[in-house]
Amino acid sequence: MRTRNFLTAAIVFGLTSACTWTSAGIVRAEDQPIAQQLIDAMDKVFGVHPGFRVNHAKGVVVEGNFKASPEAADLSRAALFDGSTIPVTVRFSDSTGVPNIPDGSADANPHGMAIKFHLPNGSDTDMVINSLKFFPVATGEDFRDLLLALAASPPDAPKPTKFDQFAASHPAVPAAFATVGTPDSFADEEYYGINAFVFVNKAGARQAVRYQMTPERVVHLAAADAASRAPDFLMDELPERVKRGPVTFHLKAQLAAAGDSTKDPAVPWPDDRKVVDLGVLTIDKTVPDSAAAQKKLLFLPGQLTDGIEESDDPLIDIRDGAYAVSFSRRIP
Ligand code: HEM
Repeated sequence: MRTRNFLTAAIVFGLTSACTWTSAGIVRAEDQPIAQQLIDAMDKVFGVHPGFRVNHAKGVVVEGNFKASPEAADLSRAALFDGSTIPVTVRFSDSTGVPNIPDGSADANPHGMAIKFHLPNGSDTDMVINSLKFFPVATGEDFRDLLLALAASPPDAPKPTKFDQFAASHPAVPAAFATVGTPDSFADEEYYGINAFVFVNKAGARQAVRYQMTPERVVHLAAADAASRAPDFLMDELPERVKRGPVTFHLKAQLAAAGDSTKDPAVPWPDDRKVVDLGVLTIDKTVPDSAAAQKKLLFLPGQLTDGIEESDDPLIDIRDGAYAVSFSRRIP
């Protein structure tokens, strides 16, 4: 893991410090300004915490493997889906850039799950997903404005606050936040890819998908129960659970039908769309120094492998740009 992470760090730091772009398209030049504006807006909401991620600052790293189902290979020719056992590094996290946020705080929702699949050819492909069922807004500019409205709405702000006004004019905002709850364990939460990707199979057939990561069971706590838990209860529980036995999830793909928008992450696809089980993700190893490991890790939603492509959802490139800026700031 160390070699791969060092390489990723070196590549991305080189990119961001030189403000150039890769032929692999990790960051597109025209997205840099909005990516930077989003980082600045997050700083206003969460404060600046040197050495930590600008968002999802608090997390825990574990390891395991992924084994694809036969159905996965029908949809995508990606090496990830060839049925072999693929090692993974996974980071679970709380929302916000506040490194000591209590895990049971409502602000720690949505919780995150970031996965690095270590492919046989030595490259990685990433998935960066969270517990929101859909995103509150469709564009980088709207997300920046949502964050700025939050920053302008401290507890003593006159009502309706700037955030109240933003939410009233963007109905997907309250609807999206209503889909989250505090889980009793990172292992008992369902995570969603939100952004659409395109699978390409061996015959060249293309299918737009959105990821779902389904646990054995979903357990959400009542708000009062969540608020009364120890500040690090989620971070502490997962390694203890993994020491007792493996934790498993099913990675699934919801398939778009004709007419479903792939470019608006604030609009979920209808529940009756076909969902294909892509395989089982097993977490069976703790990482002894998780705090040090997570500092070196960079997960990028657009770090893909042949057989998985970006859709026309503009948020994917914007996220890549923002994550790279955050990473270049947090590494020593
Ligand atoms: C324009 C929209 C978004 C922006 C600007 C944004 C920004 C960020 C930033 C700056 C980080 C810290 C990255 C780092 O330092 O490595 C981050 C982390 C994260 N974001 Fe986003 N994000 C966006 C949308 C999303 C969406 C749609 C999801 C889920 C589908 C998501 C899930 C996560 C997760 C799980 C992490 C933690 C990654 C890790 O463990 O390293 N974000 N985000």
